[in-house]
Amino acid sequence: MSTITDEIQKRRTFAIISHPDAGKTTLTEKFLLYGGAINQAGSVKGKATAKHAVSDWMEIEKERGISVTSSVLQFNYDGYCINILDTPGHQDFSEDTYRTLMAADSAVMVIDGSKGVEAQTRKLFKVCVMRHIPIFTFINKMDREAMDTFELLDDIEKELGIATCPMNWPIGCGKEFRGVLDREHGEIELFSDTKKGTAVGEVRKIALSDPQVDSFISEEQKAQLEEEIELLDGASAEFDMELVSKGQLSPVFFGSALTNFGVETFLRHFLSMTSSPLPRMSDKGMIDPMEEKDFSAFVFKIQANMNKAHRDRIAFMRICSGEFEAGMDVFHIQGGKKVRLSQPQQMMASERKMIEKAYGGDIIGVFDPGIFSIGDTLTTSPEKFAYEGIPTFAPEHFARVRQMDTMKRKQFIKGINQIAQEGAIQIFQEYNTGMEEIIVGVVGVLQFDVLKFRLENEYNVDIKLEPLPYEHIRWIENKDIDLDKLVGTSDMKKIKDLKDRPLLLFVNSWSVRMTLERNEGLILSEFGRS
Ligand code: G4P
Repeated sequence: MSTITDEIQKRRTFAIISHPDAGKTTLTEKFLLYGGAINQAGSVKGKATAKHAVSDWMEIEKERGISVTSSVLQFNYDGYCINILDTPGHQDFSEDTYRTLMAADSAVMVIDGSKGVEAQTRKLFKVCVMRHIPIFTFINKMDREAMDTFELLDDIEKELGIATCPMNWPIGCGKEFRGVLDREHGEIELFSDTKKGTAVGEVRKIALSDPQVDSFISEEQKAQLEEEIELLDGASAEFDMELVSKGQLSPVFFGSALTNFGVETFLRHFLSMTSSPLPRMSDKGMIDPMEEKDFSAFVFKIQANMNKAHRDRIAFMRICSGEFEAGMDVFHIQGGKKVRLSQPQQMMASERKMIEKAYGGDIIGVFDPGIFSIGDTLTTSPEKFAYEGIPTFAPEHFARVRQMDTMKRKQFIKGINQIAQEGAIQIFQEYNTGMEEIIVGVVGVLQFDVLKFRLENEYNVDIKLEPLPYEHIRWIENKDIDLDKLVGTSDMKKIKDLKDRPLLLFVNSWSVRMTLERNEGLILSEFGRS
């Protein structure tokens, strides 16, 4: 019989981040294939489409052919129980994408070898850095023409400000791709294009010092490899597990997810380096899952309207400690009362399945009668504590919103507040103008459509959205600031959030810098504290 601590110890909960098309889905599928969770590649994508029938408002997403809903995939591999948090891979992604990262203990960054670091990766990466979680890099599509390897690493270091440590090194790319050199063992893992999809590739290895190497790689390639390795040994950061754990050094692996190459090597190394569920900060100090025996969890995502008739919601929570049992009573800290967690479910690919038990590190969805908010804590611990809140992430699109029928003000305010509480949008008001107009901020523009659709369908309120030119929002960190005296740029706009906290809107990043320069001591943040 395994104990609760054993169960938690074997869990690895991580998020996969990438720019769309870098190969995140393909890599995830290969992981599942190795774990025996699926037996054919293509299953993950296929099911995702079927799922959209579940809820009405997701119809818009379906029409636009994208998935905005992140899911969690659980599978076992080599004694580990792995939870992969998938982040939606479209530029219309929402704040949920960011929040998903709050539930992970580490992140895998997939980069297209021909493209280097791309916009969406950069945004998600910032959140990982803020959390200081370990970041592992998989440089994909080496079977295609790729950027120069040193340039790729340089790109990551410069763009993302993190040191890199290549664990293996590619030999050629595209048609000339021959495999990777495992730097630790001096062995070459030879590239072979295994059956795309159904079979796990066999790994053929040969020592770099073996004379037979010449029959696999050309003399030119060998010379280049030796030269590059010499350069690398002199120039790159040494592997340091402590820096990896703090998220300051990213181990880098090369491969080709589509052809199965390098995937299992990556998975094995990654699992041995990444940690079991990490302690989390609460108002009573750090809560360590290895010491805290009682169940505790926090809500990081609320999915509304799973069933329109009942206006029900599902709250997704990350279990931080202890054991969860279906139907158990827990204390909801923010609500100040006991609640029963019913209809617990887990997402496997896109299927929902009811579960009986779950442990620290796992993600579960429970029925929410409308009482939970993002960041709420639930626990059975007699010593009640609340986990540190989830920050609010900077929206990049803003619009003024008006209801068409002024008689429906009440429904409008109720609806927009509820949707904001679920975390789909952020709402603001003019600062000191006496105007009651509401400004909506979203991370991805699709959320505007979702807002309009939901207000019409659930609250019977038609709205008009008037886009505003702002793209940058900053929270003011200074406690004692006289906002009237703040000297901004001509395009700057002062607004406030629902808690009356002042914020600034800017059209471009140049204005942000100018405003900082003009106001000594001003501290602006891209994350809002809850
Ligand atoms: P994403 O989730 O990050 O958006 O990317 P996804 O895995 O869907 O991959 C995007 C495209 O890149 C897919 O091709 C996929 O087959 C291809 N791909 C992924 N990994 C590799 C790789 O290692 N090498 C090569 N050459 N291609 C790779 P597609 O044509 O857009 O889709 P599909 O019809 O193949 O599914």
